[in-house]
Amino acid sequence: MDFKSKVVDLVASQVDLPKEKINQLIERPKNEKMGDYAFPAFALAKIVHKNPVEIATSIAANLKSADFSTIQAVGPYVNFAINHEKLITQTLQEVLAQKEHYGDQKLGEGNVPIDMSSPNIAKPMSMGHLRSTVIGNSIAETLKKVGYNPIKINHLGDYGTQFGKLISAYKHWGVEEDVKKDPIMSLFKYYVKFHEEAEKNPELDDEGRSWFKKLEAGDQEAVELWQWFREVSLADFKRIYQELGVTFDSYKGEAFFNDKMQPVIDELKQKKLLHESQGAQVVDMGKDENPAMIVKSDGTSIYLTRDLAAAIYRMNTYHFVKMIYVVGNEQSHHFVELKTVLKKMGYDWADEIYHVPFGLITQNGKKLSTRKGNVIFLDQVLQDAVSLAGKQIEQKNPDLAHKEQVAHDVGVGAVVFHDLKNERTENFDFDLEEVVRFEGDTGPYVQYTNARAQSVLRKAAKLGQKPNLNNIALNDDWSFAVAKSLADFPRIIARSCDKFEPSVIAKYSLDLAKKFNKYYANVKILTDDQQISARLALVQATSIVLTEALRLLGVNAPKEM
Ligand code: ARG
Repeated sequence: MDFKSKVVDLVASQVDLPKEKINQLIERPKNEKMGDYAFPAFALAKIVHKNPVEIATSIAANLKSADFSTIQAVGPYVNFAINHEKLITQTLQEVLAQKEHYGDQKLGEGNVPIDMSSPNIAKPMSMGHLRSTVIGNSIAETLKKVGYNPIKINHLGDYGTQFGKLISAYKHWGVEEDVKKDPIMSLFKYYVKFHEEAEKNPELDDEGRSWFKKLEAGDQEAVELWQWFREVSLADFKRIYQELGVTFDSYKGEAFFNDKMQPVIDELKQKKLLHESQGAQVVDMGKDENPAMIVKSDGTSIYLTRDLAAAIYRMNTYHFVKMIYVVGNEQSHHFVELKTVLKKMGYDWADEIYHVPFGLITQNGKKLSTRKGNVIFLDQVLQDAVSLAGKQIEQKNPDLAHKEQVAHDVGVGAVVFHDLKNERTENFDFDLEEVVRFEGDTGPYVQYTNARAQSVLRKAAKLGQKPNLNNIALNDDWSFAVAKSLADFPRIIARSCDKFEPSVIAKYSLDLAKKFNKYYANVKILTDDQQISARLALVQATSIVLTEALRLLGVNAPKEM
C-alpha cells in the first residue's frame, strides 16, 4: 500500500469524513522539513465547531504508526513524516514481488474503443497521424493496465470526393509500375499535380466530381482503382505501424459506413430532428450555434454523418463503457456536434464519448500542410532517427551486440517519446537532433538509464551478487528519493489514465531516471558490504519500473546500449 493511502487510513480512523474526501484534502507541506504529507484540520472546523489548531492537536495525539517517523500537529495541520527505511523496504519488496505487474490496478472494466491514427489513403501519413497513433496506443496500454479492454480502431479516411480527383489524376498521369513500387509517394504526386493543374483548368474539377459519382454508383473501373489505391496505401501504412510496434483491432474506415448512413438519416427524420436549410438537411445545435450539416445540398453525405453511423455501429458491436477519439485540436467542433446530435437522438451513452485532442507539430515554427506538398515523410523521419541513434551507439559502445536492433529501439523510441512527453494539447517543434539526444529530457536518456541499471546488475552477477530483500536497511536520501518515486508509480498510472494524458507517465519516467542517476553518482553500489544486495534490489526495482513506464508509452527498453 502506498504511503498516501496509509495517511488517509490513519486520518479516517480519527475523523468522520469519507476516505475519498480525505484523499483530496491531503497536501504536501510547503517545506519538506515539515514532513511528507499534511492534513489540513480547518477542513473539519466547520463540521465539528472546534478551532482547527485544537482539532489538529487531538488527531495527532491519537495517531501512532511505525510507517511514519513523526506525526505531529503544526498549527492547523497534522504533518506526517515518512519513516524512510520503511518506505524503501516496503516499496522494493512490492516492486520485486510484482515485477512488471507492479502498478496494475482495477479502476474499471469493459470495452473502450479508441479511434486512433486514421490516416487518409493515398496520402502520406502526417506527423498529426503519428501523434494520434502513439497517443492512442499509450492510452490503450494504460487502460489495459487498470482493467479496461481497449479496442484500437483505425478509422481510415478511405472515402470521399477526393478519390474522384485521384482517379481522374491517375487516368491522366498515372504509371502503374510507379504505384506498385512506391504507392503513397506516387499517388500523392498525382494528387498534388491535380490541384496544380485544376487551378489553371477548372474542368478538371468537374472531371473529378464525375469520377466520384461513378465510384458511388459502383462503376467497375472506379471501384477497382479505388480498391487498389486503398490496398497499396494500407500496406504502406502497415510498414510504419510495424516500425512503431503498434497494432489495430479494426481497420473499418469511412467506406465501411457507406450503407450505414441512410438508416441514421431515417432515424433523425423519424425523431423529427432533421430540417431543411438552403437545400441541405441539418440538425439544430441551439441558438448561438450553426446547425450541423447531415446531408449536403447536392445529396452527398458528409464526415459527421459517417461518424454518427460509426458511433452507433460501435455501440451495437462493442457495448462500450467509454469511447475515445484521438484526433487533433482542429476537429474539436466536429466532436461537439457528434456528441450533441447523438444526445438529441436519445443516446445517453454519448456522455461517455471523449474527444482527446492534441496540438500541432511544426517545423521551424511553421505549420505543415499536405495539400501544398509541404510534408514530413514519416518513413524518412523514422529512418533518420534510427541512423542518428546508430551513430551515437557506434561512438559510445562500438562492441555492442545486436547493434541494429538497439539503434532501431532507440531511434524509433526517441521519436515516440518526444511525441508523448509534452502535454498533448501543446504545439511543439520537431527537430530530429534534439529528439535523439542521449542527454536531456529524451527517450534515449530514460533508455540509457535503464541500460545502466541493467549493466550494474550484470557486473554484480559476475561478482556472485544478486538483489535480495532480506535485511534491507537503506535509509540514505538518494535511495529514499528513488524509492519514493517508485512508490508513486501506481498513482501516476491512475492519473495518466484519468486525463488520457501519456505525458504524465513520460515526465514521471524522466524524473525517476534523474533520481536514479543521482543515486548512481553518489552511492557506491557494488561495494562488498552487508547492504549490497539491498542496493541491487533498488537497482532492479528501478529497472522494472522504467521498463514498464516505457512500455506503457510504446517504447522498448534495450538491456544494453
Ligand atoms: N481521417 C481523418 C483525418 O485525417 C481523421 C479521422 C478521425 N476519426 C474519426 N472518427 N473522425 O483528419
